[in-house]
Amino acid sequence: MKSAHGQGDHAEPATLDAMPGEAPQETLACEPATPRGVLRGLERIFLLFDRAVGAVLPGSLNPLLHSGAIAMISIFIATMTGIVLLIWYRPSVAMAWQSVEAMSLAPYTTGFLRSLHRYSSDAALMFSSIHALRAFLEGRFGGARWLAWVTGGVLMALLWAIGWSGYWLVWDMRAQLVAVGTAKLMDVLPIFGDPVSRSFITDEGVNSLLFFVVFFFHMLVPLAFSVIAWIHINRLSRPRYLTERPMTVWTLGVLFLLCIVYPATNAEPARLTAIGSEMTMDWWYLMPLFLTERLSGSGLWGIAVVSGALFFSLPWWLSRRQPEPAHVTVSRCNECTRCFDDCPYAAIEMISRTDDNPKYTSEAFVVESKCVSCGICAGSCDTVAIGLPDLDSVEQRRRIEGWLQDALAQGEAPHMGFICAESAGAGLDVDPVTGISAQLPGYRLLRVPCAGWVHPLMVERALRWGAAGVLIVTCGPGECLYREGTLWTGKRMAGEREPALRAEKVAPEELTMLGLDRTRKAELIERAAALRADQRPSPHIGRSLGLRLVSATFLAAAFAALIGVTSNRGYASPDAKQSELVVSFSHPGATEENCRTLSEAELAEIPPHMRKPVQCDRGRSAVRLAVLIDGTEIVRKSIPAAGIWGDSNSVALERIPVEEGRHDVRVMIGDTADLNEWPHLDEQVLDFTLDDRRVVVFDRISGFGWY
Ligand code: HEM
Ligand code: SF4
Ligand code: SF4
Repeated sequence: MKSAHGQGDHAEPATLDAMPGEAPQETLACEPATPRGVLRGLERIFLLFDRAVGAVLPGSLNPLLHSGAIAMISIFIATMTGIVLLIWYRPSVAMAWQSVEAMSLAPYTTGFLRSLHRYSSDAALMFSSIHALRAFLEGRFGGARWLAWVTGGVLMALLWAIGWSGYWLVWDMRAQLVAVGTAKLMDVLPIFGDPVSRSFITDEGVNSLLFFVVFFFHMLVPLAFSVIAWIHINRLSRPRYLTERPMTVWTLGVLFLLCIVYPATNAEPARLTAIGSEMTMDWWYLMPLFLTERLSGSGLWGIAVVSGALFFSLPWWLSRRQPEPAHVTVSRCNECTRCFDDCPYAAIEMISRTDDNPKYTSEAFVVESKCVSCGICAGSCDTVAIGLPDLDSVEQRRRIEGWLQDALAQGEAPHMGFICAESAGAGLDVDPVTGISAQLPGYRLLRVPCAGWVHPLMVERALRWGAAGVLIVTCGPGECLYREGTLWTGKRMAGEREPALRAEKVAPEELTMLGLDRTRKAELIERAAALRADQRPSPHIGRSLGLRLVSATFLAAAFAALIGVTSNRGYASPDAKQSELVVSFSHPGATEENCRTLSEAELAEIPPHMRKPVQCDRGRSAVRLAVLIDGTEIVRKSIPAAGIWGDSNSVALERIPVEEGRHDVRVMIGDTADLNEWPHLDEQVLDFTLDDRRVVVFDRISGFGWY
């Protein structure tokens, strides 16, 4: 067998269209402006990038092909370093910043660990984003894959929540913005009597219990993460959840380099009266600050709910029609278990025999909800007992025989080509009836969902029926769209895995396998023509060890720089360069008892044992607030009592922009029925400076507090 892979052709193409017999895919230039067309264009860019990396690095060292496993290993590193950091970390509002700062002051010991914790978390989110982007562009979300998509989304959300809460624990200026943003979101939920935001207006008022809750959240969510991660990969056979040694060394290299060159730093300690200072922030986890600092709580929830709904429902509104799952003809099954071993999606079970054949005790059974219709099982079954209803193997054999015999009758000796629908062959114009393509003259072509569908017997028979040679086009030696199709086909055709191609039946030069991704149609046409002209395909050009090392190092430096830069972006709060006055209280208005006598008709509607002639509603009157600055009334409002029955405290949280400079501030609170009565009143002259806020809080017991 001749096998040739284009350099860097490991990329796995998409599944959005062109199943066997369907129309071929267009090139990017002709792509219609539909959502799928846009996806296809984006995927092509991704593939070209993948191809550039693959041109200099073998598949085992191409991070784009192992993004899921790199994300896993990064999460593992983050978890381990997090556990060790607990030795030095102090989980309290008063001590947190100091303890983290002390770690950073020892850059080669605790500082290194702290940086590793930070950057491995960034790498986890970055590589899981690449992994998700790849799954999205390749259309790996429909049909049986919906569960992987949905759990993947949950994993990303949990990962982000772990990081977001982690930033809270440093209790610096970033943490302050995280806390205020989170409080804004929580205050929309009708579960807190007193708004959480009130805990974050003065340093003295910070809720230590809440800080502790966040600490435990940060520690416990990783447990939920591991459960979901298990579900995420549970439907796969042999999931590659850990990187192989070269990729592990590469990942550690990226992270270590970053920790040494660009150690993680803190922002200034949190000071809640500061409006916002310039600082660096981590785009991966803190990007939502751009929104939390600009939108209201309900606006934020609106965005979260709509984008979440779009994301999680994607498998149902964007995926193409799913082909029929594989089917077993029990009478032909000889319980060899090859299909069971080869299915990459754990979709085949060996169950007790259901027919009366006394020779066998078990048979293959397809769990339809797990089957992605790749056809790899068809390529493993000698007795054609399992296969795809949409591409019946027996029918296809007859078809191929017919094509070849017709061609021979016309004096032509064509090559037989099996084209993976996800490979460079996806864009060929093939007449499904005759198997002829003007782009590949001299070939009869059968488009298959995955090269793994091709059983070695199919190759042997095509040659026996007169084919001049057989060409199998796969999507490349890297990550196959169906995970293991390319791998199993290569092994079967090399005689290394059952069902094996028989060397005595097929001479090496009679079978050629080409691994070419979707971006390489022109190369496929050229190579196929050369094969027809009896020229061997250009040999696989091995990369020298030196080139591989240099490329891997360069790529590691590039990824380290990417993480370093994105993790330390400059950020200025939109409220910076302003000053404001915040007035807040939680205060009960006077109790009101509104009683009225019920009419006879109203009483009749009430069960006799509950009838009372006079009905009273207990509630509290609104509390009035007036704020005067330099004698001018800026705020006057009446704040109704909170609670479903209107019997809780009235809660105020007023933010008033104030010009820089010295101002006389008078705050008046009225909790009686007389609108002109202000039993609680205080006044101070305050200095307002840019980037700072002054705060006035009031409660019944302590009275006014000025900050
Ligand atoms: C922290 C986040 C994530 C981690 C650590 C992770 C990890 C993994 C791993 C290790 C695999 C097995 C790969 C293989 O053996 O072929 C996998 C498969 C998969 N992941 Fe993720 N993943 C994450 C997030 C996501 C997200 C966000 C999505 C998409 C929304 C996603 C979609 C998928 C799909 C569709 C598969 C199955 C691949 C297939 O059907 O061929 N994952 N993931
Ligand atoms: S490969 Fe074919 S014969 Fe073997 S267990 Fe599967 S269905 Fe049965
Ligand atoms: S078609 Fe693919 S996923 Fe379905 S049973 Fe066969 S090998 Fe498994």
